[in-house]
Amino acid sequence: MSDFEPFYDVNRTYEDNYACGPFGAFAAALEGKGVLPVADGSSSGSNASSTTASTFLGQPVNLAFGIPAGPLLNSRYTTAAFRMGFDLATYKTVRSRAWGCNPFPNVLAVHPKSADGQLTPGSAELDEGVLADTNYELPISISNSFGVPSQDPDVWQPDMRAAIAAAGPGQVLVPSFQGSRVEGMSEEDYIADHATTARLVKETGAKLMVMNTSCPNEGHNRLLCHNPLLVGRITEAVKQEIGDTPLMIKLAFIPSDDDLELMVRSTVGRGTVQGFSTINTISAKLVDKDGNQALPGAGRDRSGVCGSAIRGAGLEMVRRLAALRERLGLDFAINGVGGVVSPADYEAYKQAGADSVMSATGAMWDAELAHKIKAAL
Ligand SMILES: Cc1cc2nc3c(=O)[nH]c(=O)nc-3n(C[C@H](O)[C@H](O)[C@H](O)COP(=O)(O)O)c2cc1C
Repeated sequence: MSDFEPFYDVNRTYEDNYACGPFGAFAAALEGKGVLPVADGSSSGSNASSTTASTFLGQPVNLAFGIPAGPLLNSRYTTAAFRMGFDLATYKTVRSRAWGCNPFPNVLAVHPKSADGQLTPGSAELDEGVLADTNYELPISISNSFGVPSQDPDVWQPDMRAAIAAAGPGQVLVPSFQGSRVEGMSEEDYIADHATTARLVKETGAKLMVMNTSCPNEGHNRLLCHNPLLVGRITEAVKQEIGDTPLMIKLAFIPSDDDLELMVRSTVGRGTVQGFSTINTISAKLVDKDGNQALPGAGRDRSGVCGSAIRGAGLEMVRRLAALRERLGLDFAINGVGGVVSPADYEAYKQAGADSVMSATGAMWDAELAHKIKAAL
């Protein structure tokens, strides 16, 4: 894969990618090089289409497909994504304050043992160790150990404003944010930090936003989304700040049906949330070929895994949410994420009940993914 350049260069630091990226086809798109094929047969740098076929949280979009929070670090990345035909471009999760990135490297190739290449939540392999190295193979699965870095709001607010303005017709910039837990913070402070960050996002002119709840909350492997009642309280505080601006929640895999139902009831059921985006990464112990810790440094024996290996888990969450939506008679949007690397994967998520679909790892390794999906439809 040496001749191929992902738009986020995994061989450079996060800071380098932020300052110098995007790379490869995304860099060319940003410079306006090349003619980009589009679904309706015309050609346009912004992939403009005369009619919009679907919506995302009430906003018209050409195709409700795009890139979730993560690999699009700033407005240069989101603008390049729009020009490459990704009609939904998520601006990487921002915080109320500047936040550093975990040490380099952050990404390694991950190789599950099973014949189908899938990592199943709850399986022994996740705790015993999954091989991780620099041998990037298709279908691609990677580790994702960044720690959700953020610029200071003074930097990201004007840049997010520029990112919103660069969307073409039928395209939507999706801001992502999360709360920050710092030493000595009370639960009330933590809730308030989410509300503050949502207000800062709203100030950029955002028409909608996604709140990441799939981040560590109470220590190892205990994520905020595993505490539905706390998420319910947070979304009430956020709604006080953003009013009727649609809010989607990003969820990790939630094993228990009861917890998932409680999540829906304490958010959508109270009118504070209009949709769910799922899944985030699956946590696994990562080892090198000798069985030693693969990512260097304390507290990094485990990492989130994303890409092809988590598709089965993502589809399962979408199916369970769609069934809950039906059973409870509630109206909410489902954004399917996890292991989408081909048009068939996009279709599988739609069949599972997703209203929109996004790909992070798959798009990093195939800048043409949106064009391919549009061509296949
Ligand atoms: C490089 C990278 C960085 C990511 N950073 C974030 C983030 O800041 N916030 C977030 O909610 N998810 C983040 N994610 C998770 C993705 O949004 C997505 O949920 C996950 O990667 C599964 O999708 P995939 O299999 O298509 O990669 C990141 C993913 C990648 C690959």
